[in-house]
Formats: sequence, structure tokens, C-alpha cells
Amino acid sequence: MEKVLAPITFYNGRKMPIIGLGTWQSSPDEVEKAVDVALQAGYRHIDTAATYGNEAAIGRALQNWFESGKIKREDLFIVTKLPPVGNRAECVEKYLKKSLAALQLQYVDLYLIHYPVGLQELQDESFPKDKDGNILFDMNTDHISLWKAMEAQVDAGRALSIGLSNFSAEQIKRIWRSARVRPANLQVELHIYHQQRELRAFCRALDITIVSYFTLGSPRYYSYIENLGLDVSRIPKQHHLSDAVVLRIAQKHGKSTAQVLLRFVMQQGVAVIPKSTNPEHIQQNFDVFDFELSPEDMYSLEALDKGERGRQVNGAIFPGQENHPEYPWKYRY
Ligand SMILES: NC(=O)c1ccc[n+]([C@@H]2O[C@H](COP(=O)([O-])OP(=O)(O)OC[C@H]3O[C@@H](n4cnc5c(N)ncnc54)[C@H](OP(=O)(O)O)[C@@H]3O)[C@@H](O)[C@H]2O)c1
Repeated sequence: MEKVLAPITFYNGRKMPIIGLGTWQSSPDEVEKAVDVALQAGYRHIDTAATYGNEAAIGRALQNWFESGKIKREDLFIVTKLPPVGNRAECVEKYLKKSLAALQLQYVDLYLIHYPVGLQELQDESFPKDKDGNILFDMNTDHISLWKAMEAQVDAGRALSIGLSNFSAEQIKRIWRSARVRPANLQVELHIYHQQRELRAFCRALDITIVSYFTLGSPRYYSYIENLGLDVSRIPKQHHLSDAVVLRIAQKHGKSTAQVLLRFVMQQGVAVIPKSTNPEHIQQNFDVFDFELSPEDMYSLEALDKGERGRQVNGAIFPGQENHPEYPWKYRY
């Protein structure tokens, strides 16, 4: 295994850097600084979404770099996502144009459908609710027509590649069969406790690349769900960054546990997008190209997989979604 890991290559020949900066829950002020620190450290891949509310701040940080002449648009790989309120064919162009305007870009490198379940469009709300606080689902989500509208964005040059996030294998297969422009990438929860072996094998067979989210275990996810007043009993309490096996391997290599968690996923050909607004963490998370996990390290880490029990993102995030026809977690993978 090479210490320097190659970028991930899509079926269409386009290349995605294997590490990107995650930006969920980074406020506009924080993210502007975080993008600046990340570009300085060598990151060339930024992951955002319309629902994160920080595209405009990312756009400002990028613009500063373009104006300085230190970086060109084609050096970067920028990913954003169609919000669930836009999960209808007639909405896709509008939401992508909105994201591009905020990011001050002519195109994104990858546009993902953020979530398979659609929500109703209600004013400017990302997660519309009725007067009793219940999420307003759109029960008529149609992935086939939605995908055609995604393909039209590639035709128009607004997205170089298109993909999916949080879709199960069954749902991916349906889109794949009807696709004129194939999905190039799937972004899903993937980490030591939820290693997604079956989904990875499925995607490999279809030449769909994978990006892992929650690679570090998203340590604040549990309290995020708790603060929303949602049912935390469905979220496993697990501590990736202080796991004893990860710690032992980290000490052996003179690296941090975060670096081992990232490297474990990257050595399996999966890209990572650790989120941080802390400059030291941003730099540390990129400093993972000077060591290599041995086959023994990899076996020890593979043995930590809890399968379905390790999944953190489930129905708890949008209560009631189990009744939606496109609820993704009704399938085993
Ligand atoms: N497609 C989807 O549905 C979806 C869902 C969730 C996330 N995502 C994407 O995936 C990204 C990653 O997910 P995530 O942000 O939830 O989880 P994560 O990257 O696993 O964890 C981020 C957390 O770890 C901390 N951290 C980062 N580097 C660290 C280090 N070296 N040592 C110790 N702590 C460290 C961060 O705090 P500091 O900021 O203080 O460093 C932050 O609290 C998101 O930002 C987003 O871009 C996508």
C-alpha cells in the first residue's frame, strides 16, 4: 500500500481528492476561516450542502483565494447537495442555481441528492413542520424523474458529476437502471463501527465511488439530536476517538486517533471529509500521508465493526420518515 494515496477516480475519468473538508455545523464565520486554513494546509476538496446554511461564506473564502491568484477554480473539487425540500424534478435547477450563486461558482464538481426522502417546500425552510412540530414529508418522491433533472444539470454544465447520499442499494439500483448519466459517487455514514461492507461491495460492482461521513464518529451528533428534543435512545453512544484499539494503533505510529480513523477508511479506497473549525485539527486531519496502517492494524480495526448497531444516522433525525415510501433504512444496506 502506497503511503501517498491517489485521488479517487470516477467512471467518467474525473478525479476527487481523497480528503475533503466537511462543513456541517460550521457557522458562516467559522467556515470562512476553516476553508482558508484548509486551503493553506493543502486541501483541495470542500463538502457542503444547501441545508448547511454556509455556502455563501464558503464562496467568499474561495473568491479571496481566486483573487489572490494562488489557486484556480480547476484546482478545486467542490461538492454541494440538493436539499430534501427540492426532491422534485422541477426544483433541481432552481436549487442548484441558488447554491452556485451563493458559492460564486459557475459549476460544482459533484452535485448530490442529499437524502432519498422528499420534504414539502414551505417558504424558505429547510425542514418544514406543521403547527404541532411534525416534519412535512412529500410522500410522492419519484427518484426516476428526479434523476433525469440531475442529468440535465450535467448537460447544462452546472455539475461535472452527479451522485447520491444516504441512498440504499435498492434505491441506487433503480436509478442506475434508468440512468443516462450514471451516479459517480455515494456519500454515506461509514466508520469503524459501521463499515458498510455490503454497500461497499455493491458500489464497487457498479463503479460508484464512496465518500465516508462521520469518519471520526461525529462526536457532537448525539447532543445535536438531544438538543432538537428527538429520541436519542435510537442513537448508539460510541466514542471513536477514544476507542482502546484505535488508541493502541495510534500510539504505535506516533499519530492521533483521528489520523488512524481517517487512514483506516482511506486505505480502503474511500474518501473522507472530516469536519473541523479548529485550525490544529484541520491541519492534523490532512497530515495522514506519511504513515501506513499494516495488514494487522487493518484486521484489528475491521473487527470493530458493529454492523447495523453502529449506525448513528437513522429514522431519529426526521421522526415519522419510516412511513415515507423512500425511507432508506428499511433495507439492510
Ligand atoms: N450526506 C450527509 O447526509 C451527511 C451527513 C453528515 C455529515 N456529512 C458531511 O460529512 C462531514 C463530516 O461529518 P461530521 O462533521 O458530522 O463528523 P466527523 O467529521 O466525524 O466529526 C467532526 C467532529 O470531530 C471533531 N474533530 C475534527 N477533527 C478532529 C481531531 N483531529 N481531533 C479531535 N476532534 C476532531 C470536530 O470538532 P472541531 O470542529 O472542534 O475540530 C467535530 O466536532 C460533515 O461536516 C458534512 O460535510 C454529510
